Amino acid sequence: MKRVLFIGIWLYIIVQSGCTGFNSETIVEKTEQEIPLAIRNEFYSDPSNPITDAKVELGRYLFYDKRLSVNKTKSCASCHDPRFSFTDTYRRSVGAYGDLTAFNSPPLINLAFNRYFTYADTSFHTPEKQINNPMFADAPVELGWKGNEAKLLRQFENDAFYQPLFSKAFPAVSNEELFTVKHVQYCITSFIKTIVSFHSPYDEYNYYGNKTALNKSALRGMVLFNSAELKCNQCHGGINFNESSFKSAPYVNTGLFPDTTLHRGLAAKTGNAADVGKYKIPTLRNLAFTSPYLHDGSVESLQEVIGMFEKGKLSTDKNKHPYITGFTLNLQQRNDLIQFLLCLSDSSVIKKSYYQDPWGIK
Ligand code: HEC
Ligand code: HEC
Repeated sequence: MKRVLFIGIWLYIIVQSGCTGFNSETIVEKTEQEIPLAIRNEFYSDPSNPITDAKVELGRYLFYDKRLSVNKTKSCASCHDPRFSFTDTYRRSVGAYGDLTAFNSPPLINLAFNRYFTYADTSFHTPEKQINNPMFADAPVELGWKGNEAKLLRQFENDAFYQPLFSKAFPAVSNEELFTVKHVQYCITSFIKTIVSFHSPYDEYNYYGNKTALNKSALRGMVLFNSAELKCNQCHGGINFNESSFKSAPYVNTGLFPDTTLHRGLAAKTGNAADVGKYKIPTLRNLAFTSPYLHDGSVESLQEVIGMFEKGKLSTDKNKHPYITGFTLNLQQRNDLIQFLLCLSDSSVIKKSYYQDPWGIK
């Protein structure tokens, strides 16, 4: 009887030490507490990559490490900077060799609540799948891993700082198999999934019962946002304001880009005429930090974006989604709508110490 208890205690200690960090409160626990109770079980974790503190800790170092690129010029954070809710302020991002990428950098927040990733491809459903893009893309190069895997991994394998972090993140793996592309990816994606942002005035109002968090103007803006005339909520619904009310994948042609030879959307990959000009519905969270907007970063202000939707009726694009019908707002209504959109921004996320670059504070 005594022996069973003894073994039980050891098992308990081993299990516990596998998931605790330095603090009494673990990163995984902290992340959970940042998510409103009502939606905690919507957090999606890839079963092949359960999140642990050790993976998150290592992933955070890698995310901010320029040795992650072929010529040591870029890390993930170069294009996903915490000061801008993990975007980069450029219209389109710049890869390791200075080439312009095709798209504007999207914010990396609340990713574990999303089912679709990237602007013009419906096939990536988890960050674990998407991460191949920045690492292996070659037209243009972003980080430049293609053909350079062994060389890039060796940097971490030969680094006395990284060695124990890899062992800790994958305790069941032998030393020879520790330094793999998969492990790098599992750690970085674990880290980015812990970046959660649910402390906007809207969240305080909606999830935390603080009915004064939205002022009168923002409340009027919310009514407009949800109105049958504007239909914003029909496309920008759900936890992150990026889910549509219709059943198909959340990629639509907004008619905002008349020149569809330049703006091919999903059709660039699928070749289907019906996909021309379709882009993913983006989140409307943290817009206060993520200008410029739209897939190509061509628009700098929310006034302009709303102006484009107002003129939606004029667009003659035959693939335009039926919900883009145009509308007319007076000055106050336009201000109210913008007030509401700005209330979806959470300034705590850009300051939170455990999302920041760990190299500076080591
Ligand atoms: C050169 C700039 C650049 C680098 C470096 C970069 N990204 Fe990105 N990232 C982008 C751009 C641009 C997009 C939009 C791509 C698209 O829609 O096809 C994007 C999209 C994403 C997305 C999809 C988000 C969404 O909501 O659809 C994730 C996740 C992501 N990046 C994570 C990372 C990680 C992790 C790294 C490091 C391994 C990284 N990125 C490196 C520019 C970059
Ligand atoms: C038919 C679906 C649909 C409707 C209705 C709709 N949107 Fe959008 N919205 C989109 C898509 C798709 C994009 C991305 C387009 C692109 O990148 O080219 C977008 C982009 C945006 C952006 C830019 C976000 C960013 O980070 O780039 C804002 C702001 C926005 N919409 C607000 C609104 C508002 C306000 C309304 C209501 C007046 C509205 N949308 C109605 C689908 C829709």
